[in-house]
Amino acid sequence: MAAEKYVIALDQGTTSSRAVLINREGRMVDCVQRPFQQIFPKPGWVEHNPQDILYSQLGSLTELLAKRGLTAEDIDSIGIDNQRETTIVWDPTTGQPVYNAIVWQCRRTADLVEQLCGTPEARQIIQEKTGLLPDAYFSASKIRWILDNVPSARERAEAGELLFGTVDTWLVWVLTGGLVHATDVTNASRTMLYNIHDNCWDKELLNLFGIPLSMMPEVRRSSSSFGETSYPGVPAGIPITGVAGDQQAALFGQCCFEPGQAKNTYGTGCFMLMHTGHEARLSKSNLVTTIVASAPEVEGTEYALEGSVFVAGALIQWLRDQLGIVQNAADTEWMAKSVEDTGGVYIVPAFTGLGAPWWNPDARGAILGITRGTTRNHIARAALEALAYQIYDLADAMAKDAGHPLGVLNVDGGASANSFLMQFQADILGRELRRPQNTETTSLGAAFLAGLATGYWSGIDELKALRETDDVFRRQMDPQRVDKLVAGWHDAVHRVM
Ligand code: G3P
Repeated sequence: MAAEKYVIALDQGTTSSRAVLINREGRMVDCVQRPFQQIFPKPGWVEHNPQDILYSQLGSLTELLAKRGLTAEDIDSIGIDNQRETTIVWDPTTGQPVYNAIVWQCRRTADLVEQLCGTPEARQIIQEKTGLLPDAYFSASKIRWILDNVPSARERAEAGELLFGTVDTWLVWVLTGGLVHATDVTNASRTMLYNIHDNCWDKELLNLFGIPLSMMPEVRRSSSSFGETSYPGVPAGIPITGVAGDQQAALFGQCCFEPGQAKNTYGTGCFMLMHTGHEARLSKSNLVTTIVASAPEVEGTEYALEGSVFVAGALIQWLRDQLGIVQNAADTEWMAKSVEDTGGVYIVPAFTGLGAPWWNPDARGAILGITRGTTRNHIARAALEALAYQIYDLADAMAKDAGHPLGVLNVDGGASANSFLMQFQADILGRELRRPQNTETTSLGAAFLAGLATGYWSGIDELKALRETDDVFRRQMDPQRVDKLVAGWHDAVHRVM
């Protein structure tokens, strides 16, 4: 047995599964990551094989334990955070999924959503009950698609023979040897079937989508018992005591526990969440309202406003892989710094339309303002600036919805390491940006949720005290220049819509 106990976070993301070992100081001690296959059966369709998700996740867990020589006794608990909305339907008697996982990015049900909830009345009902805007992104229409398209799935579901789950639910069900069919409030709130005010599956919405209640998992608090491990090859008896969608886990890992506190994760896309306390604020600016993960000491349900932009890091990847004008993503930092400005170049990365607050699926990307003097350094700088402008628009929408300006913005995710981007972001927002030393906040949040439920950590005060000194970025740019740059960005956005 090791000298100290650890918490393990299982971070099940869209492109890889990771097992992360976290100690009592909240530090990442070790991590094993396993990518898995992305399946694109048709343009706009995205699937994962649920067994690939499972085996990559279990493989990373067992490899981590073996690498560190750890047994069940060394592990206090497991916390799971996961790609949200992705939908799996399986037969509990065989343990076999009836179809591949339909991934959150998959657009196959866009017409179905329009058909079922395209009217202003339906839109209003959905927004009022679930906090979401009707979209193929969320789980409801994906479940419906499986019931309509997999032979005999509807009859079996109606006979109570099939189960639905988001990825957390699938992992918990398998890891507990089929004993627990449960999800947490954060994942439930992304299905478009959960009433976020009454905290229950909504019968009217289940009827609208033709989904039997018997398929739905029990909904538990994020920091609570989800059973214990009982699966061949995995040490038995480890409590699973934390579950949250990855973006809510990151909010928790950033210690955003109070209304007004916000985080942005710079990944392939960006996900920005602002805590709104016990108040479920409905957006007038095309953001969504979602349930956040709460510590056990907090009573009742807490909420956040969320905005997502589809293309962030993906823009840098495009410059690297498609245009070949960047060798690796980190180079964009010196390239951007090597020029004084973009020379008037703007990039609007609307590769798949524009997300919040514009929600324009038909917009397409553009590079504007090119002259004979434009170099690849200007383009690299314009790409980084485009990320910052998109976050500016989300922050602006959030401030309008929340009724007060954004306070500090906590940042994490790959591109948060880019200090040029962080400084430009602080300049444009006019708000303080805080980058923690440990930017693995998603895993940290899942671990915190698990460890709070077992008493490994005593409460949120202890978690806050674990945070080491952040890197802080504040505005250095003249506000008039900011106004001019933002006006140029909005002009560019309107040209592609
Ligand atoms: O809503 C989708 C989001 O949870 C996916 O996150 O980090 O797997 O891309 P990620």
